[in-house]
Amino acid sequence: MKQCIFTLRRVMIAVLLGWVFQGTAQSLQVIPRPLQCEEQQGTWQLTGERVLSFPAEAAEQAAYLQQVVFRSTGFQWKTTSVAKRADVLLEIDAERVPMAEGYRLEVDSKRVRICGHDRGGLFYGIQTFLQLLPPAIYSRSLQPGVVWTVPQVTITDAPDHPWRGMMLDVARYFFDKEFVMKYIDMMAMYKLNKLQLHLIDDSGWRLEIKKYPRLTEVGAWSGKDEKRLGGYYTQEEIKEMIAYASVRNVEIIPEIEFPAHMLSAVAAYPWLSCTGLQHEVPGQHFISRDLLCVGKETSFTFLADVLEETVNLFPSSYINIGGDEAVYDRWKECPLCQAVMKREGLRQPSDLQGYLTNVVADMMAKKGKTVVGWEEIIMRGKVNQPVVAVMWHNVADSLIATRAGHKAILSPAASLYLDFPEGKTPGEIKAATWMPPVSLEKCYTTAMNDYAPTSTVMGVQGCFWSDQFIHGTLLQELPLLNENRSENYAEYLTFPRLLAVAELGWCRQAQRNWSDFRQRIRTHFARLDYKDCHYRVPEPEIVSMQEQEGKVRFELASPVDGAEILYTTDGTYPHAHSARYTGPIEVDTKTDLRAMTRVSDRHCSLPLYFAPDYSAYQEYGTFVAEWKPVVIAPEKTVWRFETTGKMVGNGMYEISFVRTRGTHPLHLGTLVYYKRGEKLVEIPLQGKVDAARPVVTCRLEVKEFEAGLPFYVEVETQPEGGNDTFGFVFVKKVEE
Ligand code: ACM
Ligand code: ZN
Repeated sequence: MKQCIFTLRRVMIAVLLGWVFQGTAQSLQVIPRPLQCEEQQGTWQLTGERVLSFPAEAAEQAAYLQQVVFRSTGFQWKTTSVAKRADVLLEIDAERVPMAEGYRLEVDSKRVRICGHDRGGLFYGIQTFLQLLPPAIYSRSLQPGVVWTVPQVTITDAPDHPWRGMMLDVARYFFDKEFVMKYIDMMAMYKLNKLQLHLIDDSGWRLEIKKYPRLTEVGAWSGKDEKRLGGYYTQEEIKEMIAYASVRNVEIIPEIEFPAHMLSAVAAYPWLSCTGLQHEVPGQHFISRDLLCVGKETSFTFLADVLEETVNLFPSSYINIGGDEAVYDRWKECPLCQAVMKREGLRQPSDLQGYLTNVVADMMAKKGKTVVGWEEIIMRGKVNQPVVAVMWHNVADSLIATRAGHKAILSPAASLYLDFPEGKTPGEIKAATWMPPVSLEKCYTTAMNDYAPTSTVMGVQGCFWSDQFIHGTLLQELPLLNENRSENYAEYLTFPRLLAVAELGWCRQAQRNWSDFRQRIRTHFARLDYKDCHYRVPEPEIVSMQEQEGKVRFELASPVDGAEILYTTDGTYPHAHSARYTGPIEVDTKTDLRAMTRVSDRHCSLPLYFAPDYSAYQEYGTFVAEWKPVVIAPEKTVWRFETTGKMVGNGMYEISFVRTRGTHPLHLGTLVYYKRGEKLVEIPLQGKVDAARPVVTCRLEVKEFEAGLPFYVEVETQPEGGNDTFGFVFVKKVEE
């Protein structure tokens, strides 16, 4: 037995008192890590002969399990109403499993028994059971030849937080119903239970409202003719998503955003804003200053109507009203808004937002719904009804929620906004840049319980915004969002970090351990593969790096079970035929090593990259490439280097070749600039760098930039007398 075992009583006392837990399942690779786990010798085998039993109230969860099993194994289980005869027994028993959403999973040599506190708990017991089976269980097609065994085990598990969420921004970029359902399915696999659907923003209104048809006729679309982009969900489609989510214990919370971020509604009905001016739905990322006018009765009628249709559609007991980032210029200039402030004795425009929040929170309370919103709803004006604030700046501000009698959800942008890239490795996809990257470790180590009583913090939420990478300055020039490129981007940014969010929400603080998580997650990439999830493959792990006698010795490990590491030692990008890592490697300088994790030909990580120290050369602009003897042949040849992400947008650029050391001069001949194999510019450079004149600069005009495509330069090189030459290439934009 490899784990410490807690008695149920002790577990419950510990839950109540928030005590420290240690030592749960080490060998079982379940994510999120279960609360209490006892592994026995031996296995149970899943076969076609097994018989299933379930109570009527769990029919949907039973059908879910039968479908998953059938698709990959081909086994169609018989069912029985006599529990004693079942090999797979599903139960719901709130006395046996007292913790909400909790479950108990018992596997012995004869049968599997999954008992949930409620349907959610039962569904989670099923998820843990699936995670104990071989990864191929998730396949949507028949997987012959797999032996479907599960270790014998007893798991007692329940979440620490009732709110384990993701926010999906379907407003800036319209993800269709199928994608949203896939997202829900992936969330459910990792026991996340709340989906905040960001349905409204300046760039799109995505929810059919029957009383206001122009919201989707006009507000759901930007651009014209072949440039027309957008879409929306009909109420029937929303019902389908809700039903799909409900089986998976995911509650969809609609976000109807106001008073800011709603230009799409203003474009449809200009009378909603203070100015009444006509606007178009923006086709690129844009934060409008137009606000819902609080001085017009029609605004309140609109809100009441829209919210009524919305809450009638969504069974959630929550309604999210957005509320973030309002800039009050329009309210300050609007005589009608000013009149309301005077009438209500409000001193500043933020109090007017508080007034609006109060009106809506009262309206929603009458319908039995609790208002949720971004942290601004409790920071701007005083709100009387208890509400739930999503803290997106500083989690310590959840104390403000506590003091005012509200609840908080922790969603700090610095570690839980998954629209930031994971790192700065060259080639990383273009994503949000207004904060530093969010590595998997940074996401996983988000501080959770330090700031407010757990009774105030309901849980945690990852946010996936789609503004920066879809409409941001880098990708906006994409002619066509084809091949599900945007959907793949969304999955690449979401996974594997969603697994870290899941563990933040599910596990007690003392149970969370980064190195343990890193071990368990290795086995999950294969599961994500079978789910057809376009996750980001992590770079190889550096187990050790030792510098001695002018050499650097690297010991590497694959962060993905079953993947291999391919590498080069000449600073070039590794490919399918590069050397395969089998043991420690030695290189002259660490910048010579490039090593990537290869899951399959089509699915590799970015190569490890050690940036040289080029801080002394900042006047030449952005560092692009490094040359050294391994890439400069002794004879006349062509050297290619990537400029993707370094020369962004059309304009005039300077490219500088800066020699740093070496005994031999280097001649530079014709320079050609390419866009994915297409020659764009050719320059007869004819320069030479040596100790006396270490810099050669040329100018190059880019007229056909296209985001998302690879760009590179080829330059003729010929060293003189030998190839002992080292240097850097920089680019600088000098004119738009
Ligand atoms: C936000 O990121 N504006 C909530
Ligand atoms: Zn106004």
